[in-house]
Amino acid sequence: AMISLSAVFAPFVSAGVSAKENMDPSNWTREDVSTLSMNTQNTAPTIDKDELIQITSDSYIWDTWPLQEKNGHPAVVNGFKIIFALSVPNDVLPGKRHDTAEIHYFFSKDGKSWKSGGPVFKDGEALGSRQWAGSSIVHKDGKLQIFYTATGKKGETHLSYDQRIATATATIKTTNTSVTFEDWSTHEIILEADGEYYQTNEQTGSVESSYAFRDPYFFQDPKTGEEYLLFEGNSAGKLEDRSYKHEYIGSAAFRQNHVIPDGSKAFNGSVGIAKATNQGLNQFNLLPPLLEANYVNDELERPSVMVKGNNYYLFVKTHSEKFASGLKAPEGLYGFTSDSLFGGYQPLNESGLVIANPTDNPYQAYSWMVMSNGTVISFVNYVDVDGKDIYEIGEQSPEYQMEHFGGMLAPSLKISITRNETKILHEKKQGVFK
Ligand code: FRU
Repeated sequence: AMISLSAVFAPFVSAGVSAKENMDPSNWTREDVSTLSMNTQNTAPTIDKDELIQITSDSYIWDTWPLQEKNGHPAVVNGFKIIFALSVPNDVLPGKRHDTAEIHYFFSKDGKSWKSGGPVFKDGEALGSRQWAGSSIVHKDGKLQIFYTATGKKGETHLSYDQRIATATATIKTTNTSVTFEDWSTHEIILEADGEYYQTNEQTGSVESSYAFRDPYFFQDPKTGEEYLLFEGNSAGKLEDRSYKHEYIGSAAFRQNHVIPDGSKAFNGSVGIAKATNQGLNQFNLLPPLLEANYVNDELERPSVMVKGNNYYLFVKTHSEKFASGLKAPEGLYGFTSDSLFGGYQPLNESGLVIANPTDNPYQAYSWMVMSNGTVISFVNYVDVDGKDIYEIGEQSPEYQMEHFGGMLAPSLKISITRNETKILHEKKQGVFK
């Protein structure tokens, strides 16, 4: 049969996707993770919660991100630094915080002591029944644009877990002592799981451990000027429709002696990407994932990417229990590098591990975010759990959760990044982003 050229190329043209962007996702393999070992270069110092201070005394905060310039640097607006964080009042059970999360903000002139600005959005304007992590940028004209996860449905009576990516813009108003956001645009949904590149909630079914389409991160590629959102997803398809591939596991030599436990197939975390097609950054085209962790890990959370030298550095966070069985890895920050944005990602430090919680305090911090200068922020999760499995703590006493949960900024860490290796250099104060 004759196929016309235009028919062959039409899908690429209409989606505005170049061949390069259509590259196969990189795989984070079972072999990569099997090389992992904890050492002084990748293990964080133990956190002593008693030495820490809360940014706010009446609420918990967790996933935190600064207002950024489009180039990824933390922004300063009329002398103020601004950060955003998921928050709930601190009488909410820590394990239940995801069910009612809201985005709050804080501002600071010295970048050390932060003042609470309260909720970012006006009552009832945000989408979803609750809002999960995102990122915030300031445009050249001074406008704030926030990207966030709209989770569940507005006004729902039964908690649902649909995750869609939303955006809104506002004007940033400052006085000598305050920062406020005004003239909000209408919030709109800009990305949803498509079922072809990214698993939908319906495809997830009950056998799978989780579904994700969340945590948008704005990235402008300094090499091309193109603008993107990265996000946490899962490889598309129902469990039975997704096929096994050798490249998920590793080399032939590794595969020969490696047992893949039943159930590993359900682990299908991915790092998604979508390309902006307008300047207002409310129109995006979904592209194939940058990275997949099929048979390896189920949640590659809050992805971010930055360029250093000629290389792209991609970071994700994950929990130890999100690794498929047969793999042992700590709660931590993991990273990958490539010389192009699309394709060719290799794990940093061979396994991908960049920052691990120490074995004597395995859940002490989470949701690390790497700033362009190598400073890494995170929040204090559960401390001093004495060998208990944190994921069962939800079933245990509320008192236990409240006593051991941090819900505040963790001391920042400084890391060095050299080619495909990283190293923790030292600890910094809480709330320090530079
Ligand atoms: C990471 C995370 C994010 C999500 C948020 C929900 O800590 O799971 O992926 O947006 O928490 O509270």
